[in-house]
Amino acid sequence: MADTFATTQPDSGTAHGPKGGPALPQERRIVTAIPGPRSQEHLARREQHVATGVGTTLPVFVEAAGGGVIVDVDGNSLIDLGSGIAVASVGNAAERVVERVVDQVQRFTHTCFMVTPYDGYVDVCEQLAALTPGDHAKKSALLNSGAEAVENAVKIARAYTGRDAVAVVDHAYHGRTNLTMAMTAKSMPYKHSFGPFAGEIYRAPMSYPFREPAPITGEGAAERAIDILEKQIGAINLSCLVIEPILGEGGFVVPAEGFLPRLREWTAEHGIVLVADEIQTGFCRTGDWFACDHEGVVPDLITTAKGIAGGFPLSAVTGRAEIMDAVHVGGLGGTYGGNPVACAAALGAIETMRELDLAGRAREMGTRITARLGAIADKHACVGDVRGRGGMVAVELVGEDGRTPDPVRAGAVSAYCHQQGVVTLTAGTYGNVLRFLPPLVISDALLDEGFDVVAAGFDATA
Ligand SMILES: Cc1ncc(COP(=O)(O)O)c(C=O)c1O
Repeated sequence: MADTFATTQPDSGTAHGPKGGPALPQERRIVTAIPGPRSQEHLARREQHVATGVGTTLPVFVEAAGGGVIVDVDGNSLIDLGSGIAVASVGNAAERVVERVVDQVQRFTHTCFMVTPYDGYVDVCEQLAALTPGDHAKKSALLNSGAEAVENAVKIARAYTGRDAVAVVDHAYHGRTNLTMAMTAKSMPYKHSFGPFAGEIYRAPMSYPFREPAPITGEGAAERAIDILEKQIGAINLSCLVIEPILGEGGFVVPAEGFLPRLREWTAEHGIVLVADEIQTGFCRTGDWFACDHEGVVPDLITTAKGIAGGFPLSAVTGRAEIMDAVHVGGLGGTYGGNPVACAAALGAIETMRELDLAGRAREMGTRITARLGAIADKHACVGDVRGRGGMVAVELVGEDGRTPDPVRAGAVSAYCHQQGVVTLTAGTYGNVLRFLPPLVISDALLDEGFDVVAAGFDATA
């Protein structure tokens, strides 16, 4: 009898299609309209079976991805300027990730760390202790998603301080669970119709240099936030301040220098746990291991996810050992948290970041992208602001007054890029920000070609 599963594959493929990873031809190749006919067929199935509430930015169905490209079922090869929202920083199917994952899958796939532990989990926690800011004693708990990490950071801060209130900032994004929806600022699409929300969440103004009504220093913006928190909630009632050092979904807003250090000082004075949400900014994305490193800010707790594991679902809360250990035994965890395959992927991703110096690469990339976006800004008055750091850069699009958000133009430029085979993302409270998060392993040639298309998108929509 023929062995149904034994197939002879060409070297470049698997039983399910072409092989991804860095060996994939690094080229933009458009062979059909986008989405192509096969993607359209898949889309019809998706519409039948997948809930409408799960959105899609660019409806091409993926067959393989690696380096800086995504290949769809029609044979189009798209330049990836999004990394699956800052996840595939080491590239899709990165070699070290695949090696370690295959090895782990063949040994065991799950025992539940809370039932019978394994070294991969502890290895990831050890790496997190070494890589995150500060040289104090640290411990970690591993979870599955970013939102879950943020929820756990709040639980830990409440247990440690014995206080309830949680401070967050304007334009923040922390996830889609009940608590993290309450912490997220933007109503549509994240919160609308999903209330009631968790209580004891208080919002302070962020430092948003482009949108300040009058010039204000980073320290001044921090004092403005502190004033509101002290007057309206009281420092003594706050368990934690949770803040993204550079806003992600909020539009890559980089706070003015001095904002984060002043908040660090104030939280320390009042025993408030400072939680840096580095889920989008972490793991080399901004040109350092973590965005807090840029101004030497050492948070008490740090939440990480996304880039940590090369595409596998893994997240973490890492922080001062005495804070992490304030929680009673059994108070933290979850069935899948720190799954052994996801931990193996994280170890492979971290190894890749070290071997390829992806923090350095992100810095180089930042210079290159900023120059390209600066040239676009010189030509098109609709670009009100170019901002970001390392491999996390954005432009904010505005109307003729130089201020009114222009989400329509941002959407039009992004749609043009998609048609031309370049994956771009939008963001921002007003939906008027085009954000760029390329895989940190993308070649300069592909990056330049991607930004040629972005530039053409601004010309074509003028
Ligand atoms: C800063 C930040 N926090 C939390 C989250 C939520 O992560 P997840 O979607 O994995 O739950 C995100 C996701 O975009 C994020 O960018």
